[in-house]
Amino acid sequence: ESIVDEEKFRPAFHFTPQAHWMNDPNGMFFLNGTYHLYFQYYPEDNVWGPMHWGHATSKDMIEWQQREIALKPDEKGYIFSGSAVYDKNNTSGLGRENDPPVVAMFTYHDPKGEKEGKINYQSQAIAFSLDSGYTWTKYKNNPVIKNPGLKDFRDPKMTWDPIHKKWLMVLSANDRSIFYSSENLKDWQKLSEFGMQTGAHDGVWECPDFFPMKVEDSEEIKWVLIQSLNPGGYNGGSGTQYFIGDFDGKTFTPERNFKDLKDKHNYWLDFGRDNYAGVTWSNIPSKDGRTLFLGWMSNWLYAQEVPTEKWRSSMTLPRELTLKKTNSDYRIFSTPARELEKYKSAIQLQSKRDQNKVVFTAPAQSDLMSNEFNFAIPLKEIKKLQFSLSNSQNDSLKFGLNTEDHQFYVNRKKSGLIDFSDKFTQKFSTAPRIVKSDTLKVNFIVDRTSIEIFYDDGATVMTEIFFPEEPYTKFGIHADSKLEIENMEISRINT
Ligand code: FRU
Repeated sequence: ESIVDEEKFRPAFHFTPQAHWMNDPNGMFFLNGTYHLYFQYYPEDNVWGPMHWGHATSKDMIEWQQREIALKPDEKGYIFSGSAVYDKNNTSGLGRENDPPVVAMFTYHDPKGEKEGKINYQSQAIAFSLDSGYTWTKYKNNPVIKNPGLKDFRDPKMTWDPIHKKWLMVLSANDRSIFYSSENLKDWQKLSEFGMQTGAHDGVWECPDFFPMKVEDSEEIKWVLIQSLNPGGYNGGSGTQYFIGDFDGKTFTPERNFKDLKDKHNYWLDFGRDNYAGVTWSNIPSKDGRTLFLGWMSNWLYAQEVPTEKWRSSMTLPRELTLKKTNSDYRIFSTPARELEKYKSAIQLQSKRDQNKVVFTAPAQSDLMSNEFNFAIPLKEIKKLQFSLSNSQNDSLKFGLNTEDHQFYVNRKKSGLIDFSDKFTQKFSTAPRIVKSDTLKVNFIVDRTSIEIFYDDGATVMTEIFFPEEPYTKFGIHADSKLEIENMEISRINT
């Protein structure tokens, strides 16, 4: 297949590298009106290889400009995932007078050490930028945190702790998160460990994030630990769980000990198969106050086989996270960042309806591949509710809700190209309905090869990728009893 042809799979308003392999988002920070995104990047092939930090910038996290590579591997190893902070008061001393640095921390991965079967082949190192993130200098005394004899010791995420007034960092070490603090971003003291007794553990813990959040409509502050793991995600392969709790400046104490729950651990930022290694932006101004998140929109089960040759992988949409207390339980809700709004224009689609069903059709020469849908369905007698996006070849992506067991699902068995990996359609993905109101609210966004579904105002989120050879042109809603639809809003997204 030619390169031109596969450009039909390239998302229009999600970040993708122009060419070659990408995985995790890294080092995200905001400064002087610009959002910076770095990413795990291998600029010589379309599969994973010696890791660099690629770089892109944006004014709104929707339209991106790819920049020069920020960090390249060297004799100490590959540049694995990490984070960046704006060191406004030059606590690190790495800046110049009146010219504070941006400081990044990443993991050095020494491939030789790994091959030799050593266990200490990963350590943490820093780099700094004096031109707000465009060019970087590695610190001369790296690593700043040596490997203490732990496997999979990586992915440092730094944050300013506004409550205890110090820098914090969390990293993952195989089966646990480890917390550190620092006064100067160079000397780090270990605070505590978390997680060996709780949460999902059918894989390696990676890419954590740790920060305080205000509980919506209250003055209460809780701490959130985001903790990706692979494999062992809710629907297999890569997935991102989270924990809510308290932090006294040293130890994180979760609200609930998930091992005690009879049900499967079900605190996941996204229950779909394609949102991994996501973390939050640093240095968002307090007058903005949002917690902004971005993930890698793929899954290690098949990421290196998806049917694009020129580039591989996309990021999710930027999302705003909020923390809500529902039925005495704390839950993270996600919604698309409002920056997307200005690209939307309302459209009307032709529709055909009968008692239990409606089908919307895109106008001739158009499609439903850059669209947002928003609507609500009073559930009443409905037991099975199915949504479908389809094309004239009878490819269809199906998703929906079973109201009897409160389970959502996504079925991409007939969604288009699926043969590139037997892991791609092995099974449906499912998700619990977290907020069980009488009316189901649905919001979803399609961008060529992805769907991001936000149910019930973002209480349950499912993100999935797919590869139809012909664009989807129809959207159907099908119920097993009388169907009512409220507030149907359909938009085209133009960038
Ligand atoms: C997660 C991950 C990280 C690691 C990086 C390497 O997808 O495995 O733990 O730093 O990818 O590219």
